[in-house]
Amino acid sequence: MQKPVFLESHQVIQSSALFSEIEAGLLAEQASISPKFLYDALGAHLFTAITLVPEYYPTAVETGLLTQYTSEIAAAIGPDPVLIDLGAGDCKKAALLFESMKPASYVAIDFSVDYLKDALEKLQSQHTDIPMYGIGMDFSQTLKLPTTISQTPRTFFYPGSSIGNFLPTEAQALLAQIKREALGGGLLLGVDLMKADDVLQAAYDDPLKITAAFNLNILRSVNAIIDSNFDVSHFSHKVMINHSKERVELYLEALRDTSVTWGGKQRLFKQGELIHTENSHKYSIASIQQLLNRAGFQSLKIWTDAQQYFAVIYAK
Ligand code: TRP
Repeated sequence: MQKPVFLESHQVIQSSALFSEIEAGLLAEQASISPKFLYDALGAHLFTAITLVPEYYPTAVETGLLTQYTSEIAAAIGPDPVLIDLGAGDCKKAALLFESMKPASYVAIDFSVDYLKDALEKLQSQHTDIPMYGIGMDFSQTLKLPTTISQTPRTFFYPGSSIGNFLPTEAQALLAQIKREALGGGLLLGVDLMKADDVLQAAYDDPLKITAAFNLNILRSVNAIIDSNFDVSHFSHKVMINHSKERVELYLEALRDTSVTWGGKQRLFKQGELIHTENSHKYSIASIQQLLNRAGFQSLKIWTDAQQYFAVIYAK
């Protein structure tokens, strides 16, 4: 049976670097934990569960667009692309495109490497004719592909509005790196659009509380990495919509005075104090166009749904 090739050693994710990153976040006046720590083994599964919750519209709407416009998207990209999936997760969205796109090869990149491995092995068994590569990598700082990946023009796929999880300046820098790494190819991007507060609120605080579990799980994920003693029951999931910054902000709020200790260090949290875990910026068509243009993408093709909830963009 054909197996995907894993290029994990490309970037050794230093555990001491992760430790210092978490420590710095916990000791800062406004405490924060990087969203990448949401995606441990349980977190990756909880996120998949979120994508199935009806209130979390981004996945459903984006999947609808990718399905409805699959031939137009494939035509815009052109034949036999080398498809590079950033934050591939369960690889389900890329798989939607395979039939119309017929990629020459598929490269799946994700920070959550064990989860990726299972998904990619399954996908490879269903598409034995497409060479597949998996890379465990945190591309949020620098995106540099191993030289084994074809040097021909590449098509990057960055769905799920993950671009919204960066500050606009960082997003522009990442898009510019993608533009360079594309070697004359392009980017298929999913972007969540600004919309009414109640829709956002329900999407980020669903009634089944799966999103709350996902966000709270970051404390367990951190406990496992730095051997800290966060008590999950002392915190609750909190969503704030920041209109001036055009984003949803996710926090964990201390329900009572509580403390966490690790490796001889300690942080106290007063009741009501917040730990920031994620920003999810929402764009307008005009603002995402401007960001892509500034990153060096000159030609854009845009598909949106009737409610203008979400946009899929092919940028070159
Ligand atoms: N990238 C997703 C988003 O911004 C991640 C996400 C969904 C998330 N729900 C969350 C992150 C709740 C933290 C907490 O839509």
